[in-house]
Amino acid sequence: MRPATIVAIKAVLLVLLLAPLGQLGFQVWQSISGSGEGLGVNPIERLTHRTGELALYVLLLSLAVTPLRNLTGRAVLTRFRRLIGLCAFVYATLHLAVYVLDRSLGEDGFTLRDVAKDIAKRPYITIGTLAFGILLALAVTSTNGMIRRLGKSWQTLHRLVYGAALLGVIHFAWLVKASLVKPLILFGVLVSLMAARLPAWLKPSNSKAKRAAP
Ligand code: HEM
Repeated sequence: MRPATIVAIKAVLLVLLLAPLGQLGFQVWQSISGSGEGLGVNPIERLTHRTGELALYVLLLSLAVTPLRNLTGRAVLTRFRRLIGLCAFVYATLHLAVYVLDRSLGEDGFTLRDVAKDIAKRPYITIGTLAFGILLALAVTSTNGMIRRLGKSWQTLHRLVYGAALLGVIHFAWLVKASLVKPLILFGVLVSLMAARLPAWLKPSNSKAKRAAP
């Protein structure tokens, strides 16, 4: 595929992946200006949920790239994985930002002590923080320079993306009050994606495929 085509596909992909963000931005504007439905009666809660779900969906999408490449034999698909992963990180960062904003709006504000208390006392926050920590490490090391510098350890580090997704699903399952159906479906998707990678992981000689995938 020509480099210009890859750039064009990346641009379209970026627009598609960030389209929900545009919609959320529009709803925030509606809520602030009091026009239209906006984010409903509990805007912060709606924002927390939407950004959290989007982070998890896009993260799972990034994990689907390698199985899809193996299935179709189209190696070029790997060229889009970093972009998808970074979009997941963008949503996770927004999710965390909305949470911090929400807690800061309280009477006494939100201090680092409150953060530590939340992490220690609320297990789903502990798990979410761990997942975010992994995503942050992966985003920071996603540049070409870091891939070169870290060599083989880059691959090992980036396998943690499966851990981040699993923690994200557990975080979700822990906090849902009504039905576990959604987290269970996402867990099933994650297990299927991991199962699809198993043959490549178990075959040490398959170095080419391994080099290209976390
Ligand atoms: C420091 C990190 C994080 C914090 C503090 C945090 C906090 C929260 C909070 C407060 C909620 C809403 C709880 C409620 O409604 O009772 C939530 C929901 C959620 N979070 Fe996180 N989260 C974090 C990281 C993550 C990450 C990394 C992911 C995904 C990879 C994620 C995915 C979700 C999902 C899917 C939901 C549920 C959305 C829904 O109910 O529809 N979170 N999170």
